[in-house]
Amino acid sequence: MRAVDIIIKKRRGFQLTKEEIHFIIDGYVKGEIPDYQVSALLMAICFQGLNKEEQVNLTMEMLHSGEQIDLSSIQGVCVDKHSTGGVGDKTTLVIAPIIAACGLKIAKMSGRGLGHTGGTLDKLESIPGFQIAISPQDFLKQVQEIGIAVVGQTANITPADKKLYALRDVTGTIDSIGLIAGSVMSKKLASGAHSILLDVKVGDGAFMQTLKDARILARAMVDIGNSCGRKTVAMLTDMDQPLGEAVGNSIEVIEVIETLKGRGPKDFTALCREICTEMLLMTNFAKNKTEAKQMITRVLQDGSAMEKLRQMIIYQGGNPEVINNYQLFAQAKHIIKVKSKESGYIKKIRTHSIGDAAMILGAGRKTKDDIIDPSVGIKVIVKVGQLVEKGDTLAELYANGKEEARALEITEQAFEITDEIVNKNKIVLDIIK
Ligand code: URA
Repeated sequence: MRAVDIIIKKRRGFQLTKEEIHFIIDGYVKGEIPDYQVSALLMAICFQGLNKEEQVNLTMEMLHSGEQIDLSSIQGVCVDKHSTGGVGDKTTLVIAPIIAACGLKIAKMSGRGLGHTGGTLDKLESIPGFQIAISPQDFLKQVQEIGIAVVGQTANITPADKKLYALRDVTGTIDSIGLIAGSVMSKKLASGAHSILLDVKVGDGAFMQTLKDARILARAMVDIGNSCGRKTVAMLTDMDQPLGEAVGNSIEVIEVIETLKGRGPKDFTALCREICTEMLLMTNFAKNKTEAKQMITRVLQDGSAMEKLRQMIIYQGGNPEVINNYQLFAQAKHIIKVKSKESGYIKKIRTHSIGDAAMILGAGRKTKDDIIDPSVGIKVIVKVGQLVEKGDTLAELYANGKEEARALEITEQAFEITDEIVNKNKIVLDIIK
């Protein structure tokens, strides 16, 4: 077999066999096939796509390129949740305590991503003392004892995806549905959970900009998960405005705590409740939606969801006092208000721009060696459809002197205001089972 023949075959639009996919992935991981040939194949895949069989074969090949987490020693139902990534997306940190308080087990290993803000791990590390490097034994023990752990990857999971993702990032080949599906699902399958909830973000701040593409991606991932014996459900959710208010690290964790106290932003709270409802239904922990919603309300009101977050912070070495004293988080030196220059309805919030502005302030990484400042970020106070008066605050920049003027300009330009009434965005756009 020769890599060049496989590239030409895909370029002409033919289906690759299981053996050909194995040849490429295995050869690439071993360093026998060079970047330039794999880049050419990735580009051909971007143009010609991968059919269902190819997607499953690619996912399996990436899954078997590394270790798999064995959660069989944990008693109970292990669930996992994955978001395709969005601006202000701190959902895991709210849903994990809620569903753990409801009795499910959530054993989450996260990687560090590049992007507008840090990933879940960076957000957690903004809690003083919080450790994400936990040994596999302590990780399993923690999940068994308190039902919840969110840690950094220790095992060598899907090395093929790591190598391919880095190559895709610099060759303009990220946004291919088949490649994204294989990348996400290989990692989810390797993480060992029985049930997987996928939050597929749609809109300006997401990989998938249209509902049509998001549906195709969701269907592909759900089919891969279910065909591998894992119950998989995808929710398509709005990313045409930042989720909640906070976009950053410390400020997102504070918003998480506020949400668990019942004082979170409406859109974010609603999304977390919807995701938890689906998780309770897919695992048969609740008989129907009404029962699921009652369970969620109960664990929020009686404080048991907050208690799960507190336990996780203690088990992972963090200071649980942050829950009642936000001054313990690193504080930004400046809070700069972005005021509306006109009256009218918020028509559009350029979500990607808000993410970029937060990153420029230091909340995210452009390259993997960048250092995150946990205290900085942006709070977007308004929502699409909201009526604002001239002079009202649209957003607040939490800044420490890094590129404040540029971040301010980008944030100001992110808002579009009109005289005409604008409909509010729906939060959950579809559910694919
Ligand atoms: N997230 C992933 O893990 N992989 C992709 O390809 C895109 C988003």
